[in-house]
Amino acid sequence: MANPVDLLIQEHEVITKALNNVLNLKELIQSDSKKFQTELNSYIHFFRNYADNFHHQKEERILFVQMNDKQNHLSDGIIKEMYDNHIVFREMLAEIEKLNNESKFDEAYIAFEEYYNALLDHIAVEDFEIFQIALSIFSKEELDKLSFQFDDNDRNLGLDNKKSMEDMVN
Ligand SMILES: [Fe+2]
Ligand SMILES: [Fe+2]
Repeated sequence: MANPVDLLIQEHEVITKALNNVLNLKELIQSDSKKFQTELNSYIHFFRNYADNFHHQKEERILFVQMNDKQNHLSDGIIKEMYDNHIVFREMLAEIEKLNNESKFDEAYIAFEEYYNALLDHIAVEDFEIFQIALSIFSKEELDKLSFQFDDNDRNLGLDNKKSMEDMVN
């Protein structure tokens, strides 16, 4: 059985690639702003669906819940911070989308840079702290159960949909 944390780390890699792809769109603001707008909107769709639906759902509804159940003190500390970050990311994306749709491309790009930095920091905390805590507090059986629940979550949301978003990024 796969380690459930590996799937989340692998998704972090796809999300990081997508973040870098958007950063590389900068010159389009001058050369082809229409294309910049369209590309940015398709990545906003990616961050909502892949990062928020597929990825954050597994963290928020499965992993974090079970970590809190297992070690109650986690729920007020670092895990709460992760939930709060996810809320801020949704607000940031809405702002980026608004600026992009208003054709305020320089502002949209600056807002995206903030999102980029915040999301990379968040991913680092999860990879190096949260997931390591998870591996230390769950038994082999509990980790297997988490893997099944993760797979179920993704199947319910649509594996073809997930694959096509990964293909877009790569
Ligand atoms: Fe997260
Ligand atoms: Fe994450």
